[in-house]
Amino acid sequence: MAKQAKKKKPTIEISKVTEIVGPDLNDLCDAAESAIEEGGGFGWLKPPTRQTLENFWRGALLVPGRAVFIGRLDGVIVGSAQLVQPTKNNEAQALSATLTTNFVAPWARGHGLARALTATVEDEARRDGYLVLNLDVRATQEAAISLYENAGYVRYAVHPHYARVGDEWVAGYYYYKDLQAAE
Ligand SMILES: CC(C)(COP(=O)(O)OP(=O)(O)OC[C@H]1O[C@@H](n2cnc3c(N)ncnc32)[C@H](O)[C@@H]1OP(=O)(O)O)[C@@H](O)C(=O)NCCC(=O)NCCS
Repeated sequence: MAKQAKKKKPTIEISKVTEIVGPDLNDLCDAAESAIEEGGGFGWLKPPTRQTLENFWRGALLVPGRAVFIGRLDGVIVGSAQLVQPTKNNEAQALSATLTTNFVAPWARGHGLARALTATVEDEARRDGYLVLNLDVRATQEAAISLYENAGYVRYAVHPHYARVGDEWVAGYYYYKDLQAAE
């Protein structure tokens, strides 16, 4: 009997980027579009035009105080996350950064990409000297909630009118992680 070919484990790669061009930009827009369609957009409820999505990523890369990370599955961009620094005037919260826009395309989920993206953003925040990482998420994003709670994020507040989806309010959960305690 012929030996069954062993299924190769997909490779995961996370990197901080300062430029996304050509097929990479297209792959990132495809990934974002499918995540939005599936209901897990980072704010968007339905996919915007391709031009708007491209401008969104170009803008994110240009804005000072924002670092963009991408996740690749077998070389293809399938997800992303951003680390946002506090604004310069915010001396009182100068040691707190924010994790945002963390998503993985539906077809690439379950391989540990979001966990790796989150850990990479945390490492970068620690390297930059931040002591706390904040984030917020819609209460309906069960996978994300499990991801963050398993990664040591503490839910400290619930916003009952966090987002409006259709005719309904959706609550939002606010989390923080003590980056020193978690080391
Ligand atoms: C949340 C999300 C990023 C997870 O991506 P992923 O690459 O599939 O996640 P991982 O494979 O790294 O899984 C890490 C952990 O997340 C949690 N998780 C992932 N998928 C889950 C699911 N379907 N149900 C429950 N928990 C889930 C688990 O805790 C998992 O750890 P485990 O494998 O040890 O159980 C993805 O589902 C997504 O993009 N959702 C929509 C966008 C979103 O909600 N983003 C967060 C707010 S901005």
